Amino acid sequence: MRAAVHADYGLPEEVIAVAAAPLPVLKPKQVLVRMCAAGVNWADQSMTLGEPLLMRLGYGFRRPRAGIRGMEVAGVIEAVGVKVTDWKAGDEVIGWGTGTFAEFVAIDAKRLVAKSEALTFDRAAGLPVAGCTALQAMRDVAKVQPGDQVLVVGASGGIGSFAVQIAKAMGAEVTGVCSTPNIESVRSLGADRVIDYTDRDFTEEDRKYDAILDIADKHSLSERRSALKAKGTIIPNSGEGGRWLGSIGRILKARIISPFVSHRLRPFLSVTKRADVAALVDMAVAGTLTPVVGVTYPLDQAGEAVAEAGSGHARGKVILTA
Ligand SMILES: NC(=O)c1ccc[n+]([C@@H]2O[C@H](COP(=O)([O-])OP(=O)(O)OC[C@H]3O[C@@H](n4cnc5c(N)ncnc54)[C@H](OP(=O)(O)O)[C@@H]3O)[C@@H](O)[C@H]2O)c1
Repeated sequence: MRAAVHADYGLPEEVIAVAAAPLPVLKPKQVLVRMCAAGVNWADQSMTLGEPLLMRLGYGFRRPRAGIRGMEVAGVIEAVGVKVTDWKAGDEVIGWGTGTFAEFVAIDAKRLVAKSEALTFDRAAGLPVAGCTALQAMRDVAKVQPGDQVLVVGASGGIGSFAVQIAKAMGAEVTGVCSTPNIESVRSLGADRVIDYTDRDFTEEDRKYDAILDIADKHSLSERRSALKAKGTIIPNSGEGGRWLGSIGRILKARIISPFVSHRLRPFLSVTKRADVAALVDMAVAGTLTPVVGVTYPLDQAGEAVAEAGSGHARGKVILTA
């Protein structure tokens, strides 16, 4: 099969190349999925660069251990392992695991959800990572209530475009922050207000929020807190930081300060769960969620796709297609 492999850490366009790779060998509880579309995430760029360096303890110090990137897929089941009873060849599925930037990928059967016909493969492929992150941030961390004022900083990107729609579906009044070219896109997702960060600064406005999801904010924590209501929640979700620790320093700072202030400072790590992916599919079927696909790349251009997803300015999801 063809797969986007990288043997060294480095810039995605330089180290990722499409090459022949062996077909994955199925374990008894896995299924072989023929990739139709694969979501590309910020983390794919981090893992390709090998940064933050701390991450290399898990992924290989000098060279990446897993040479095929990719964490999520939408595709068609080609074959099932001997112990798989609930899926069959031909089923259209959404899955998550490793090595999805390839024509075929082996996925644990319990990490699959049926793809509805209401979703195209490219719209379905971004649900497991960005979709679940947005859902868990709004529902579990911010605990958004009807009428809440919610600010999404980074509203036009992968996570933000889901978060705006999910917060609206939960009854919140949503303000999105993005740059000039993306204003209309964020408005079309249902945002009540859009702030162009190249023109206005949300920390200098009088409006206060119950929850702020910060995906790309450049303000200090205290500046961001000034835009929160007294018991408001901030979810620092940005990957900015030094070469060694990345965002960990920023996240630790929020954790340390949190017990001493009235605001809830809640950095979190999303975990893709079957029930949550299924809930997102249900929202898409009901018409309350339309995953935004900003750009698709063929598998041959996986390096460019990874660089785009890591640029910090992707519109909606970046998707690879077979
Ligand atoms: N907590 C978790 O479990 C978790 C899971 C996955 C990812 N993440 C983190 O989420 C981040 C990536 O999210 P993503 O994939 O949604 O990113 P993305 O697709 O690259 O979107 C970035 C967004 O930020 C906006 N933006 C860029 N610069 C900005 C600025 N100075 N002020 C305000 N907005 C700005 C962009 O708008 P314009 O394009 O208009 O500039 C765009 O809307 C990474 O930091 C990653 O580490 C966290």
